[in-house]
Amino acid sequence: MTQSPYKTVDSETEKSSDVVWHQASVSHEDRVKSNKHRPAVLWFTGLSGSGKSTIANAVDKMLHDGGCKTYVLDGDNIRHGLNGDLTFSDADRIENIRRIGEVAKLFVDAGLLVCSAFISPFKSDREMIAKKLNQGEFIEVFIDTPLGICAQRDPKGLYAKVKTGEIKNFTGIDSTYEAPQNADIVIKTAECSVEDCALQIINYLKQNGYFQ
Ligand code: ADX
Repeated sequence: MTQSPYKTVDSETEKSSDVVWHQASVSHEDRVKSNKHRPAVLWFTGLSGSGKSTIANAVDKMLHDGGCKTYVLDGDNIRHGLNGDLTFSDADRIENIRRIGEVAKLFVDAGLLVCSAFISPFKSDREMIAKKLNQGEFIEVFIDTPLGICAQRDPKGLYAKVKTGEIKNFTGIDSTYEAPQNADIVIKTAECSVEDCALQIINYLKQNGYFQ
């Protein structure tokens, strides 16, 4: 892009007017043109253990093998670095998602198809990210796996720790999860293989003209 992608930077952040947007020499359009696909963020949301990271990585592999420029932003991984200072309080979850929204926006600006896998429990945070992006650049993917199945899978042993009281504020147990009502894609991992779930998402992208 030749101009700031931020619609209301100053009023939103109360940033000093001495901070001036530097125009890039390579525009967003230049970057998009050099790819064989349109950029977007596939925003995976769902409970812990629902399969967000697994499906996101399967989609990423298929897209990458098909010649797309891609990246995965994963909740657990990002909490080791960029968001290592955040807890699982409501306020920190909001800040976690706000930062990732900004990072995802940068990746979209760079022309990539990004899979972001975060519980992102609050509807208003997901809506805020959709608003930061242009039409068609935010695709909400609800990994709709029932709590009982997530707890049964318990891939990281966290539900077991919740039972013994070792973990508090756990999503779906004693911390809120607001399921999307109008997700662009709904994936039922309890009913389909990982490959079929990933293909559902690939088909959505094809049908909506993200690539051919
Ligand atoms: S979010 O709510 O802020 O979006 P995020 O996706 O970054 O969460 O991180 C969730 C991951 O952190 C889970 O998959 C799980 O492995 C781990 N985790 C540790 N403690 C908790 C907790 N109290 N609630 C949910 N996830 C937790």
